[in-house]
Amino acid sequence: MKEQIEDIIIEEKEVIIEEIVKSKGLRGKVFVSYAPGRVNLIGEHTDYNMGFVMPCAIDLKTVALGRFTNHEGEISIESLNLREKIRVNFDNIKPTKTWADYILGPIFLLKNKIWNLKGGLEIIIKGNVPLGGGLSSSASCEVAVSSLLNEMFNLKMEKIEIVRISKKAENEFVGVPCGIMDQMSSVFGKENHAMVIDCKTEEIEYVKFPQSWSVVICDSGVKHKLGESEYKKRQNECQQALKIIKERIKNNQIESLRDVDEDMLDILKRENEILWKRAKFVVEENKRVLTAKEAIKKEDKETIAKVFIQSHIGLQKEYEVSCEELDKLVEIAYDFKYTIGARMTGAGFGGNTVNIVEKGKEKEFAEFVKEKYKSKTNKKTEIRIVKISDGAKSFQMEI
Ligand code: GLA
Repeated sequence: MKEQIEDIIIEEKEVIIEEIVKSKGLRGKVFVSYAPGRVNLIGEHTDYNMGFVMPCAIDLKTVALGRFTNHEGEISIESLNLREKIRVNFDNIKPTKTWADYILGPIFLLKNKIWNLKGGLEIIIKGNVPLGGGLSSSASCEVAVSSLLNEMFNLKMEKIEIVRISKKAENEFVGVPCGIMDQMSSVFGKENHAMVIDCKTEEIEYVKFPQSWSVVICDSGVKHKLGESEYKKRQNECQQALKIIKERIKNNQIESLRDVDEDMLDILKRENEILWKRAKFVVEENKRVLTAKEAIKKEDKETIAKVFIQSHIGLQKEYEVSCEELDKLVEIAYDFKYTIGARMTGAGFGGNTVNIVEKGKEKEFAEFVKEKYKSKTNKKTEIRIVKISDGAKSFQMEI
């Protein structure tokens, strides 16, 4: 285990050193952090309803490198992926509505703690989490930056504080009202383990992922514009559904859809068909997470196949956040003999599907899906066989 962590660190050092030597020629003491993306195995749109999710951190990550400079009051941030650099004044950090906000957000929120900054700060980012594909590229960037600042300024933040700062950056600085799943996964991920997160109590149960199963992610290659506005709309619909149920049954113990049962759903059905569909999906999805947890422990493939397809169909027909391309990818995946489970993952409206496939059959699966997806949609899919990985790390080094 220790050896593997060191291997990862060495690998990340090399990526960064190579980039710096090539493009910057920096020398001296630098701080490095990295934070993984995640794939959600099951439990979609349940986090902001205080329910259960089952993500895992993956070996796609954002690496952040920081150093102190002599430029008084200046924060310089650079994305090596985008080949863009911006400079802002420490006293005047504002959202830019660009990629830079994922970096500026945590800096802004931690400003009070790093107030004694003398000179300037330079942060360089490089990552391989596909942007906007439902694999938490934004959370991995926010967590990488929060962890980096923690290391640079010796803030001694607990891991859960890093989660909270990163989520707050996304909610308040970037302006996306996400739940807590992505940042939790990026911080608390554990190699070879799925995480069952209770989004109400923030407790995590790690479940060993079967050695004979593999996680494969298929990118639909599309990102529908509707995504962001529909995400907010679904949150509002869940709130409205909750409000009606609470009013009708006059029960103050019900704090979220997490506390709603089938009988309460019936009340909603009579009043508002759309809200009923949304709430029904959430109530059932929560149960599916718990069923999937037990199934993973027992390596029970049939149950996984069942709950994954139920989850996908619910997202398609009841929560209405899937799209044609994701549906096709799931349909194709289930035509492959060694698929254990397949469903869309993340917020929806494009992005990726998550597939559990028998170990040893991943490449065959990838070929199969690529060819069929091309012939059915005339689109290309990028397929990633991922490793379930540890959460964020930070360290210092001399170069
Ligand atoms: C996005 C959000 C998460 C979660 C998922 C849907 O990834 O960032 O908080 O709500 O959508 O499950």
